[in-house]
Amino acid sequence: MNLYNVYPLFDITPIKGEGSYLWDAEGQKYLDLYGGHAVISIGHTHPHYVKRITEQLNKIGFYSNSIKNPIQSELSDKLGAISGYMDYQLFLCNSGAEANENALKLASFASGRKKVIAFNKSFHGRTSGAVAATDNPKIVSSFNTGHEVEFIPLNDKEAADKAINEEVAAVIIEGIQGVGGIQFPENDFLAFLRKKCDAAGSYLILDEVQSGYGRSGYFFAHQSAEIKPDLITTAKGMGNGFPIGGVLIHPKIKPWAGQLGTTFGGNYLACVAGLAVLEVIEEERLIQNAEKLGKYLLQELKSFSSLENVRGRGLMIGFNLPENLLGLRNDLLYKYKIFTGAAGKEVIRLLPSLGLKKKEADEFLEALSDALKNSKQ
Ligand SMILES: Cc1ncc(COP(=O)(O)O)c(C=O)c1O
Repeated sequence: MNLYNVYPLFDITPIKGEGSYLWDAEGQKYLDLYGGHAVISIGHTHPHYVKRITEQLNKIGFYSNSIKNPIQSELSDKLGAISGYMDYQLFLCNSGAEANENALKLASFASGRKKVIAFNKSFHGRTSGAVAATDNPKIVSSFNTGHEVEFIPLNDKEAADKAINEEVAAVIIEGIQGVGGIQFPENDFLAFLRKKCDAAGSYLILDEVQSGYGRSGYFFAHQSAEIKPDLITTAKGMGNGFPIGGVLIHPKIKPWAGQLGTTFGGNYLACVAGLAVLEVIEEERLIQNAEKLGKYLLQELKSFSSLENVRGRGLMIGFNLPENLLGLRNDLLYKYKIFTGAAGKEVIRLLPSLGLKKKEADEFLEALSDALKNSKQ
């Protein structure tokens, strides 16, 4: 049977990973500054993470939600404490799209409304609810998602003022737009959305699937604005590659049996993976490292005059490429053995492990300097 061919893939197969590095079958080493769509938060095969998952697998591997699972409470307590959202409730699921889907459902249940406000260039995932809130006309126009979504420009208070009214169930916004090319909601725009949602009785959903878990130098990127959303969604770095997602839910939203559900969400192994990630983030001060290394990388990247609009927070960094450098990402991969990410053709996205070391950042900067010199010849 053929695999359903929807992914544009590089012809490289890593068979081993450690920290910020990968190796292929020929023993070729690669520096990974992308972490398979931002999932590698604490580094490949971190020993503490491997030990925790292995120990759990040898005790009881998988069991789903029909029994009490004490590791779920351990995870929610630890996540509450580290994130500063101890008074919120946690619903566990398996992916970012599923987290957003559940957040949209909760906003709808709680408000009794259907309409959603989302932002230009947003990305929220591939389920029909999440994709309806994603600014991708090619996909959304080709099937009926059944969702009523209005898109407005990011950081446009006038448009937000007009759009958010008493028909709106939810406003969904990324902590930092990732797929949209590393774009930041301004702090006072988030504060404005908070106020408008309160006035209209709408629910503010912060999608922190890519920007959360310490990546921005805050636990969640929106915390720079000192606002509290009604719902926060998370996945990706939450399990360092193990599929796990979650919705942090304001205490005013009340659960009832059967309101949400999933077979696999919150299984033992996923919870242990999630706990191990938080333990390493805390023990190794990875949020502080993300902030420090992010500042260093930004400052150094800004010194390359051929890179345009270098921007970032913590270890979520982007820059634009002029027309003559559109081959840079391939050069970095095939000549310099460095994985980076992209957003469209002209933006390079860096989403390395939060444990990135200065010498690894320097290795990248040297390669970049060389690649830029050679591309001019
Ligand atoms: C901001 C954001 N939300 C949601 C998703 C969807 O997550 P998943 O692919 O785990 O469903 C992504 C994935 O890239 C994302 O970047």
